[in-house]
Amino acid sequence: MSQQEEPEADEEVTTPIEELRERKREAELGGGEERIQRQHDKGKMTARERIDYFVDEGSFHEIDPFVEHRVQAFGMDEKKYAGDAVVTGYGEVNGRKVFLFAHDFTVLGGSVGEVVADKICKVMDKAIEAGVPFIGLNDSGGARIQEGVNSLVGFAKIFQRNTKASGLIPQISAIMGPCAGGATYSPALTDFTFMVEDTSHMFITGPDVIETVTGEQVSKEELGGAKTHATKSGVAHFAARSEEQALDDIRRLLSYLPQNNMEEPPRAQPWDDPKRTCDDLADIVPNEPRKPYDMTTVIDRIVDEDSFFEVHDGWARNVVTGYGRMDGRVVGVVANQPRVSAGTLDIEASEKAARFVRFCDSFNIPIVTLVDVPGFMPGTDQEHNGIIRRGAKLIYAYAEATVPLLSVIVRKAYGGAYIVMSSKFLGSDVNYAWPGSEMAVLGPRGAVNILYRNEIANADEPDKKRQELMDEFREEFAHPYGPAKRGYLDDVIEPQDTRKRLIDDLDLLERKRKDTPPKDHGNIPL
Ligand code: HXC
Repeated sequence: MSQQEEPEADEEVTTPIEELRERKREAELGGGEERIQRQHDKGKMTARERIDYFVDEGSFHEIDPFVEHRVQAFGMDEKKYAGDAVVTGYGEVNGRKVFLFAHDFTVLGGSVGEVVADKICKVMDKAIEAGVPFIGLNDSGGARIQEGVNSLVGFAKIFQRNTKASGLIPQISAIMGPCAGGATYSPALTDFTFMVEDTSHMFITGPDVIETVTGEQVSKEELGGAKTHATKSGVAHFAARSEEQALDDIRRLLSYLPQNNMEEPPRAQPWDDPKRTCDDLADIVPNEPRKPYDMTTVIDRIVDEDSFFEVHDGWARNVVTGYGRMDGRVVGVVANQPRVSAGTLDIEASEKAARFVRFCDSFNIPIVTLVDVPGFMPGTDQEHNGIIRRGAKLIYAYAEATVPLLSVIVRKAYGGAYIVMSSKFLGSDVNYAWPGSEMAVLGPRGAVNILYRNEIANADEPDKKRQELMDEFREEFAHPYGPAKRGYLDDVIEPQDTRKRLIDDLDLLERKRKDTPPKDHGNIPL
């Protein structure tokens, strides 16, 4: 029989609970006070401060706080930290569960080795099983150099889960520090990417490598800062001025999203009269067909007051995408923006809208499309960069969508762009037009130049002749009643009635069911 050792009289007794608390305190310090200070000096929060700010107070439960790496080489046995370089767990945002990870940059630069990847994969698996959104707060030097190929394998495991989770649960990434090399592809596989101005950077190869290989000199910010990715590349959907703003915006975004693909998005208690008419919409569209106006004003009037939350507002601004509420129900809005490039569809606008439509379709969010589009953008730049292949994504996205699709032609819809923007025979449920709108294969000038080339060239006054022919063409097409007579439009409605009409339709379409034949997946033109 073993004999219990009695403590010495002056020896301090540590109870198991005290030991646990001590170990947790240690884990919470991550890489230690000095590195925490360095993090603050860079204007960044630590992983735990970010989580505390993000989730509802007191709701976070950490998982794996004691996990340590098992690497011996490169003096790594001296660099063990409880929890290693990532904090993982679950908490609540506005009372709804989320799983998350936050890289801890104070531990080995938040680098991703074997156990960091395993910790992240564990919570991703749990998020998929539980059917709740997954949030990644990224701040990492990327693959842990000392762990070689094990780090790369770790990333492969994460990518595999990002792909598995796609379309099952919303996945959101915030970049709050470095994110380089292959590590960028995990955020790229998620549904939304947030960046923070000045403190976050994303690139496949950094400025030094670029200068060595190509001789090109570029700053980190210009290469892969928040502004660059939110305006030029489209990699970031949101650029925030601060970490707090990014986290606030993620909380707001989550309020529009269902927890998973089997649920409806959360309906809010309605606060705006569903029968409200939008009287100032009657004269928002200028009489002059080429004169711009701001489509976001139309959106703001139609949706519940102050509910529009724009996504990707700095990139491909010729199309507007975002979430709003109508009588408390969540809708995705896609709209041409006449103020930018006359609202034409180009490669970037097509890709932006296509990805937005596909997210809405995966997560049961009805789509309202507001159309004012002169066509696809002409030019060698567009053709050579593949507008045929890349514009096809938007057709595919709408044609495959099974959520309620409602569209309103506000002013014009020409050519292929008419078809693409949620037209009836791509599968749209409800198609309206405002009086004065027009649908045609080409705009009047382009049409008469092709149809009457010789007549115009041989006329005594070619410009006058062209104008006469354009007027005739307008007579024929500059109203919505041709398509309405054929049932391509369900009705022509007064602009001020748009909101109440769409709300009634959304109510009816709530029970929409559409069966598609089973297949592994389609082959969207990528
Ligand atoms: C191990 C790393 C690390 C890494 C940083 N650290 N990156 N440790 N592996 N990848 C450690 C540093 O040694 C340092 O440790 C601490 O983190 C903080 O780093 P600093 O350099 O002092 O910080 P800072 O000046 O802010 O610079 C941050 C940085 C830089 C820009 C991220 O550290 C850096 O360039 N790291 C390497 C980035 C990289 O090339 N990663 C591989 C990318 S390829 P101490 O102990 O001093 O605090 C990749 C492939 C993925 O990720 C493939 C997926 C398919």
